[in-house]
Amino acid sequence: MKVMEMRDGWGVEHIKPGTRPERTPGPGEALVRMAAASVNFRDVVTARRGYGGHSGALPLIPLSDGAGTVLEVGPGVTRVKPGDLVCPAFFQTWISGPMKEEHRAGVLGGARDGVMQEYMLLPQEGLVKAPGGWSAVEAATLPCAALTAWSAVIGNGVKAGDAVVTQGTGGVSLFAAIFARMQGALAIVTSSSDEKLERAKAFGAALGINYKRQPEWSREVRQALGGRGADLIVELGGAGTLDQSLRAIRTSGTLALIGVLSGAAAELNLGRVVTQNVRLQGVTVGSRDAFEEMVRAFELHGAKPPIDDKRYAFDEVAAAITAIGEGRHFGKICIEF
Ligand SMILES: NC(=O)c1ccc[n+]([C@@H]2O[C@H](COP(=O)([O-])OP(=O)(O)OC[C@H]3O[C@@H](n4cnc5c(N)ncnc54)[C@H](OP(=O)(O)O)[C@@H]3O)[C@@H](O)[C@H]2O)c1
Repeated sequence: MKVMEMRDGWGVEHIKPGTRPERTPGPGEALVRMAAASVNFRDVVTARRGYGGHSGALPLIPLSDGAGTVLEVGPGVTRVKPGDLVCPAFFQTWISGPMKEEHRAGVLGGARDGVMQEYMLLPQEGLVKAPGGWSAVEAATLPCAALTAWSAVIGNGVKAGDAVVTQGTGGVSLFAAIFARMQGALAIVTSSSDEKLERAKAFGAALGINYKRQPEWSREVRQALGGRGADLIVELGGAGTLDQSLRAIRTSGTLALIGVLSGAAAELNLGRVVTQNVRLQGVTVGSRDAFEEMVRAFELHGAKPPIDDKRYAFDEVAAAITAIGEGRHFGKICIEF
């Protein structure tokens, strides 16, 4: 079967077509014919071996996020059946409860081979059924970006009447806006582009702020909220946004620390954190149970994922990873097999 893999070195330029043997499912396993994948910013970092030991070893099949149809199941499989559209979970072994260190060893497209394979043989425990009626491309957007946003918004107890600020118009940010709206909260989205802010309205953005024109965007947030500040900020910018986030958060609000788009080493105003009683909460994707709750929410609310207009083919995965690094996209960059 065909795969795309980094064989001879790290870096997107080393992603080449390859082949792996075809296998049949053993007890508890399912064989999935993969149909689509989506790219996350982490795939840029992983390809550069930016996660060190967590980037796995070569040869490595990239990308954590994909979807496909179950072809065949082994003895004892009850969670899925042939014909089901499924997504492999980002953390193959994190089923429920809080994250534990050992879950890291089960990350696809990093510690383990990722989804750029014609067929994937996976334990049934590592599979989640896609929302009913969704296409493979739509489902492929869910495992990392959407679940991270779900953990940030729902995991931090956002409720009707709250205000959530989310940064940029990439995957995590727009999913966070979708979930904030589902909860009856006000979603404020920041972006470098007015055009993207306009498009973000369809995904829940009630207010948009151009962070290029308004580098001190925390003022706009406070003004819009009558001086109070946001209940939750989905922190994706990292070093370049943390200070503004701390100025925009309300007393006793939560900063969901997720992204490092503008750098991973930041100076933190401890005085503000302490005196404003700010809660700093790191977020890393989520469990399979949370994934299934999110699927039910999508089905109930009829919401759909934000997908960029440009699609890539199976053998264009390197170009797709390069494109997310360039940041011109809107929502999720997807690959159709
Ligand atoms: N902790 C986790 O488990 C987890 C999971 C998923 C992602 N992440 C991290 O979250 C971040 C976002 O991931 P993603 O996959 O959603 O990325 P993405 O789709 O590539 O989104 C990038 C977008 O963020 C915006 N942006 C870039 N720099 C910014 C800045 N300084 N301030 C505000 N917005 C900025 C830009 O939007 P505009 O073009 O609209 O300005 C850009 O298009 C990345 O750092 C990623 O590594 C972490």
